[in-house]
Parts: sequence; C-alpha cells; structure tokens
Amino acid sequence: MRSTCLVAAATLVVGLVRGQGAVEDWHPPTTGDANHGYLPHTGKGIQLNDTVHALGVALNIDEEVATNLFGFAITTNPEPNATEFSLENLGRHNVLEHDASLSRADFAITGDSVSFNRTVYDETRSYWKTDTITVQQAADARLARYTTSQATNPDYSMSSLGDQFSAGESVAYLFILGDIATQTAPRKFVEYLFENEKLPTEVGWKRSDHVFTWENLQTGIQMIYNATGTTAEAMQKMRRREIHGGSLRY
Ligand code: HEM
Ligand SMILES: *[C@@H]1O[C@H](CO)[C@@H](O)[C@H](O)[C@H]1NC(C)=O
Ligand SMILES: *[C@@H]1O[C@H](CO)[C@@H](O)[C@H](O)[C@H]1NC(C)=O
Ligand SMILES: *[C@@H]1O[C@H](CO)[C@@H](O)[C@H](O)[C@H]1NC(C)=O
Ligand SMILES: *[C@@H]1O[C@H](CO)[C@@H](O)[C@H](O)[C@H]1NC(C)=O
Repeated sequence: MRSTCLVAAATLVVGLVRGQGAVEDWHPPTTGDANHGYLPHTGKGIQLNDTVHALGVALNIDEEVATNLFGFAITTNPEPNATEFSLENLGRHNVLEHDASLSRADFAITGDSVSFNRTVYDETRSYWKTDTITVQQAADARLARYTTSQATNPDYSMSSLGDQFSAGESVAYLFILGDIATQTAPRKFVEYLFENEKLPTEVGWKRSDHVFTWENLQTGIQMIYNATGTTAEAMQKMRRREIHGGSLRY
C-alpha cells in the first residue's frame, strides 16, 4: 500500500491491524496487498484499537502516543466525526501531509506527495554521513529539505502542525526505529525503511525494548530544533502561508 507515511504503511496494514499479534507474523506488502487477506480492504477503516495495537506490537509505542497520533490521523478523514482513517487519507495535502518531506516531492511540484521520490530522498540521505545517524545529521537533513523546498516551490507552505510533524518524523526514525539511549539510528535500518517501506527486520533490526512515550516525542522534537539552532518559532518564519493553526500539545 502506497502511503505518505512509510511506517503507517509498514505497521498498520499487514497482519498487525486486526490483532494477529506478533511482529514475526508481519509480511511485507507486495503488489496490491489488498489481495493478501490480512484485511478486507487494505489500509482502510483503521480504528483506535488497531492503531494502539499495531504501534505497540510493532514498535513499542505507548498508548498515549498512539492515541494522540490516531487523533491527528482521523482529521485527515473528510467524513465528519470520523472514528477511523485510511492510509490514503493520510496523504491529503496540508492536513498532516506537508511540504519539505524527507522522501516525497512537494505536492505543488509533482502533484504527487505520496510516492517515494529518489531525488528528494537522495538529498536527505546525503546528510546521513556516518554508519550511525545522529540528531545533528537528522536535523541538518530536515533543514536542507526546507531550504530546497522554499527555493524550488513557489507554492511552498508549512503550517505549525506540519512543522511539528516534520520534526516528529525525524524523531521517529532516530528514536523509535533507532536507539533512544544513544540518540542515534543505524543508517542501514533507516535506509532500509525508506527504500523498502518495511521494518528492517531482515537486516537485523529488532523492536526496541524501550517504551516510546509522549515525553520522548516532545524531547526529541526539541532536540531536532535545537540541533540546527532553530526554535519552533524560527522554523515557523520559514513558511509562506499558514494553512492550519493546529498544534501538537506541548
Ligand atoms: C497513526 C500513526 C501515524 C500517523 C497518523 C502518521 C502520519 C504521517 C504523515 C501524514 C506523514 C506525511 C508527512 C509528510 O508530508 O512528509 C508521515 C510521514 C512519516 N512518518 Fe508517520 N505517521 C504515523 C506513525 C509513524 C510512526 C510510528 C513512525 C516511525 C516510527 C513514522 C515515521 C514517519 C516518517 C519517518 C515520515 C517521513 C516521511 C518523509 O518525510 O518522506 N510515522 N507520517
Ligand atoms: C478493533 O475493534 C474492531 C471492532 O470495533 C474489531 O473488529 C477489531 O478486530 C479490533 N482490532 C484489534 C486490533 O483488536
Ligand atoms: C458531529 O459531532 C458534532 C458535535 O458532537 C455534532 O453536532 C454533529 O451533528 C456531528 N455530525 C455528524 C455528521 O454526525
Ligand atoms: C522528484 O522530485 C523532484 C524534486 O521535486 C522533481 O523535480 C522530480 O520531477 C520528481 N520525480 C518524479 C519522478 O516525480
Ligand atoms: C533546547 O534548547 C533550549 C534552549 O537552549 C534548552 O532549554 C532545552 O533544554 C533544549 N532541549 C533539549 C531537549 O535539548
């Protein structure tokens, strides 16, 4: 399932969503994975319990983080008062999906901010200079993507919420996929995730023993901002238009 969130695609969909349990049961999404029988309509109708379950089982993300992410996710469902979302919903531009992504082109440039884009990803990847990716490298990569987007996309926009999601996404690959204790992530795991849109189990990654909390997310976001000497406010000045006034609560 093609999704703007590679991890949502990797964890929420196949095998995990309906409670089959273990990561070992997880199978890679291959062509048209709706046919694989894990879900009747792959990537659709994802509910709160599915999200809490899948993110907990696959990534040791706690219930508060999963519940808050779910709360954001359902805002992408155009139905009023939705209680579920689809992976397709997540790709709606300027709800959560934002410009200056790490591996997707800006919506205004290609009309497709959902598919993996090699050019964009190669820019990001050029900042991952060592075998273990540091907070500094992740923050530099993110800032470079902002700068490039602003220079090349006349319709560039970044909401406050989009900016916080952007920082949170860097935290996600560093601290959830990687190691929160050392504040690094093995580059081979991160590259595998982005390039294959699957958890990097087959190259030696294991679910962290550390329960990832909302506080971890907030601290991580601050570290990303701090590493480039930017505050959330300074990153905000880098946007041309405010789309949504929403804000992660911290
Ligand atoms: C219900 C849970 C989740 C929701 C609703 C969600 C939503 C999103 C959305 C909307 C995007 C697109 C942002 C953009 O425009 O670039 C995104 C990207 C991303 N997500 Fe998720 N996400 C979830 C869980 C996760 C988890 C658990 C991780 C990692 C452990 C993760 C890692 C990422 C990364 C690294 C990106 C950046 C992709 C890029 O910039 O190319 N997400 N997510
Ligand atoms: C979540 O609840 C729905 C019913 O509302 C159920 O069909 C589904 O199996 C549950 N998911 C999990 C992971 O337990
Ligand atoms: C959505 O919820 C609001 C507030 O509870 C309610 O007033 C409204 O009628 C609901 N809309 C639908 C379509 O259910
Ligand atoms: C990938 O993104 C770049 C930069 O935005 C863009 O010029 C290029 O057309 C995109 N490639 C594809 C295949 O869409
Ligand atoms: C970020 O920088 C601010 C200001 O220097 C500092 O107070 C804060 O502790 C830093 N946060 C983290 C998580 O490093």
